[in-house]
Amino acid sequence: MDTITTVDPAAARLDGSYYQTWYPVCLAGEVLAGTLLGVDILDTRVIVYRDDTGRAVVQSAWCPHLGADLSQGTLVEGQVRCPYHHWRFDRGGACSHIPTGDRIPSAARIVTYPTAEAWGFIWLFNGTTAMFDPPRMPDATEADLDWAAHFRGIRSGPGEAALSNGVDFQHLRTLHGLNTTEPDEITVRDHEIEFRVEAAGYSQHGIISGMSTFAQHLTPAGRDLFMLFCGAPIDRTRRRSFFTVGIPRRVDRQDGGQDESQALENLGVFVERLLSEDEPILERMRLRRGTLVASDRHLARYFRYAKEFPRAVPPGI
Ligand code: FES
Ligand SMILES: [Fe+2]
Repeated sequence: MDTITTVDPAAARLDGSYYQTWYPVCLAGEVLAGTLLGVDILDTRVIVYRDDTGRAVVQSAWCPHLGADLSQGTLVEGQVRCPYHHWRFDRGGACSHIPTGDRIPSAARIVTYPTAEAWGFIWLFNGTTAMFDPPRMPDATEADLDWAAHFRGIRSGPGEAALSNGVDFQHLRTLHGLNTTEPDEITVRDHEIEFRVEAAGYSQHGIISGMSTFAQHLTPAGRDLFMLFCGAPIDRTRRRSFFTVGIPRRVDRQDGGQDESQALENLGVFVERLLSEDEPILERMRLRRGTLVASDRHLARYFRYAKEFPRAVPPGI
């Protein structure tokens, strides 16, 4: 096969839908007890807060009464109080109180998204029920690593292209100048893509989770480095970009006790370098039906995965 063509993902986005995947909403550290945060995401707006057990809640920001922005409201006894007429909503989204004493209409509800907290982020699932687990780090749990989550910034350019980086093995050499190789095959499942590269003195285990996240475990020169890249559309043209870096906790490490915070910082600098090399290209590209060659077979498979990935108009829009 000499050429492989992909579809234009931009065409699929005209119907108001987004991928039915986990999307990072914000840094978990931004949501302190008592904080009511508003975040623009997926062409709508959500509120984020913690219930009285500390669990994160993500709900539609639009009050069902007249549509006020609930992020301008207040948390009262663990419930969201609208700033306008003080209707209250519980963590399940039901209206629990109307100050006038009127009967509470059954339609007086806000959408509560499936919500998770993982790797330093609060995530929502675009749907009424989650179709798969939140993104994971290859070969490690949060307890295994010293890790740090970062907000990279607001970026333009298609998220599909940014995510394709995970299986674009050529660009690791051409753009980033890394001495890497590529897997013979990648494993494509309904909601993730996984691959492993084993080479002399180097291994890579990568996972694309859903349509928002790429995470990998690299072992250059015997060191264990973990990184997770994720992003979420704000609207059709902008997306938030985040990343987490991690290294094994000191007790597990064989590196002679190098200062952990310094090692983590160094990894963060390395990852920021990679991102700063990718971003100018991703920001300017117009992702389109491509003319791919045989060496692009993993990329071609990824684009088919993306094309077939389920989509839905966000509930609560
Ligand atoms: S708009 Fe929210 S209570 Fe009236
Ligand atoms: Fe890259």
